[in-house]
Amino acid sequence: MASQAKLVVACLILSLALIQISEATGGPIATYWGVGEGHLGDLCKKKHYSYINVAYVKSFGGGKVLSPICEGTSCIRLGEDIKACQQIGIKVLISLGGPFDTYSLISETDAQAVAKQLWNSYIDEVNFDGIDFRIENGSALYYEYLAQTLKDFATANKKEIILSAFPGCVYPDRYLARAIHASYFDIIWIQYFNNSACQYDSTVQTPDDLLLISWTAWNLTVHDKTKLFLGIPATPIIPGYIPCEQLINTVIPNISANNSKYAGVLVWNSTYDLQTKYSSCLNGIAYE
Ligand SMILES: *[C@@H]1O[C@H](CO)[C@@H](O)[C@H](O)[C@H]1NC(C)=O
Ligand SMILES: *[C@@H]1O[C@H](CO)[C@@H](O)[C@H](O)[C@H]1NC(C)=O
Ligand SMILES: *[C@@H]1O[C@H](CO)[C@@H](O)[C@H](O)[C@H]1NC(C)=O
Ligand SMILES: *[C@@H]1O[C@H](CO)[C@@H](O)[C@H](O)[C@H]1NC(C)=O
Ligand SMILES: *[C@@H]1O[C@H](CO)[C@@H](O)[C@H](O)[C@H]1NC(C)=O
Ligand SMILES: *[C@@H]1O[C@H](CO)[C@@H](O)[C@H](O)[C@H]1NC(C)=O
Repeated sequence: MASQAKLVVACLILSLALIQISEATGGPIATYWGVGEGHLGDLCKKKHYSYINVAYVKSFGGGKVLSPICEGTSCIRLGEDIKACQQIGIKVLISLGGPFDTYSLISETDAQAVAKQLWNSYIDEVNFDGIDFRIENGSALYYEYLAQTLKDFATANKKEIILSAFPGCVYPDRYLARAIHASYFDIIWIQYFNNSACQYDSTVQTPDDLLLISWTAWNLTVHDKTKLFLGIPATPIIPGYIPCEQLINTVIPNISANNSKYAGVLVWNSTYDLQTKYSSCLNGIAYE
């Protein structure tokens, strides 16, 4: 009996220690997922992610109807999956843009109209937790009006929404600089991959480490309340990949030092992560 009680206590201590490790190593994990890459609900059940960005509303602006992210029965399933994810505390955001040339805002009024469309379709109807800006094509103008109008709707409707951005690591960002400068984003996942100007390079040591130089610029300039996430590949086939050991022992300690706005890691993307199990390295939790 007594030894059993001891065992229970030992297990409890061990699991508390594990929880502490998982928080100490990398913080929350975010990722991107797209319709067709398995079921969102199954991804959430892995309990690895705190934020999931659903890709993409790839057509908007200039009077266009928003492009749908799903069709027919896949939408019913998606709606149920989003609710299931939210019930276990995962924030699900709808992501705008992506690697397409099918979107652009043409005026301040256009930006406000897109904000209304997004609010009606994705916040009111589907109840996403927020809207993510992954803008990498088209005109760089008017995104600050889109973000501002979304914030205004949230205030008017007494509803909290998250606005996030996924700029490249070169500061300032070509597309979102104005919106970032105006502090409209609660979270910025910075893309430290596919960009030799600032991605991780194992051959370069501090203080010449390009990633750290870039991070320092972002960390110094964004608003105090903005959460910064390190956006990195979950696979070595994408340039900028950071082996787990370096990530935990060198990169995260450096970028999270001295009251940095560091808040976690975004792994690109969920399909790769399921293959490589990269995010297990971050929090020490095995996949279920
Ligand atoms: C994730 O990567 C896979 C493999 O390249 C790709 O098929 C998928 O579209 C990507 N997901 C997103 C959301 O871009
Ligand atoms: C936008 O997309 C088009 C078509 O895919 C491509 O040719 C162009 O280079 C892209 N522009 C930028 C700035 O990425
Ligand atoms: C990396 O950049 C190339 C060239 O712009 C592009 O074709 C590719 O899709 C990008 N990959 C990722 C993972 O962003
Ligand atoms: C920062 O990175 C360098 C190597 O790039 C490493 O020597 C140093 O220990 C790191 N600092 C911390 C606090 O981990
Ligand atoms: C953190 O602060 C210490 C002491 O001021 C300094 O030596 C170190 O370089 C700083 N680290 C980073 C990553 O800014
Ligand atoms: C982040 O910015 C704070 C000031 O807001 C500074 O004290 C700290 O050294 C910076 N950390 C890094 C890692 O750049």
